[in-house]
Amino acid sequence: MDKKVIVVGGASGVGAACVRSLAEAGASIVSLDRSEELGRSVAEQAGQHFLTCDVTNRDQVFAVIDEAAGLLGGVDSLVHAAGILVQGPAEDIDDETWAHIMDINARGPMLTNQAVLPHLKKGDRSSIANFASSSALTAYPNGAAYAASKGAVTAWTRTIAVEWARFGIRANVIHPSARTAMFEQHLAKMNEEELAAYKKVLWQKIPLGGEFGDPDRDIAPVITFLVSDGARFMTGQNIAVNGGYYI
Ligand SMILES: NC(=O)c1ccc[n+]([C@@H]2O[C@H](COP(=O)([O-])OP(=O)(O)OC[C@H]3O[C@@H](n4cnc5c(N)ncnc54)[C@H](O)[C@@H]3O)[C@@H](O)[C@H]2O)c1
Repeated sequence: MDKKVIVVGGASGVGAACVRSLAEAGASIVSLDRSEELGRSVAEQAGQHFLTCDVTNRDQVFAVIDEAAGLLGGVDSLVHAAGILVQGPAEDIDDETWAHIMDINARGPMLTNQAVLPHLKKGDRSSIANFASSSALTAYPNGAAYAASKGAVTAWTRTIAVEWARFGIRANVIHPSARTAMFEQHLAKMNEEELAAYKKVLWQKIPLGGEFGDPDRDIAPVITFLVSDGARFMTGQNIAVNGGYYI
């Protein structure tokens, strides 16, 4: 696949799997993340570039995406996987927590999407894939701020799919379920009893395999497809890659 791709959040989990999957498919990639050591190591192992970037820093985002475009000689696609999980009862969310998660999970994709726009406009079949979460589409008890931030990126993506279609840019949003560092963080909050009950729920509610998926085998290949011209007639879609969870 002859595509030039920026992967945001490429140091860990699904983003790292996207770097590997896209590289294997023949794409040229610049991976961005605030986690420098890990990000560099993942990118270098895949034979790709890495640049440090905090998605909440507007000036840095615009400068780094311009630099990435220079390294690649243009940009065909941006995949934004960077995000954080914050949990807690809805009634306890304070302004600082709300602002922090919105900054990274909602404002972050807005900034990277805006910054890459002038580069994508130069191509004729460009695309954006933003990561949201099933929590944008269904209730997520103990995660209301996270769910709200993912609802924001879902709505943002749907709207730019229409606004930027005139530039030939597709934009889709992915709702994954994958065994990553973020998933481990989610499990770490549970005691033994809660963990056993949660695993039972997953077993009952995920028809394909009864557990979250593998980032490399189950999630990243879908992103590689979305970046490819095979997906040229898909835009504005909510794409759940979750083994059938919530159906
Ligand atoms: N794992 C899941 O089951 C799951 C479920 C629903 C949604 N998601 C979403 O998928 C995406 C990827 O999740 P993951 O599970 O791979 O998580 P992860 O924690 O393994 O990776 C997230 C990456 O984002 C980077 N990041 C965080 N804040 C950043 C910032 N300010 N600037 C730059 N980089 C930053 C981290 O350094 C990390 O490399 C996230 O947006 C997440 O919300 C994941």
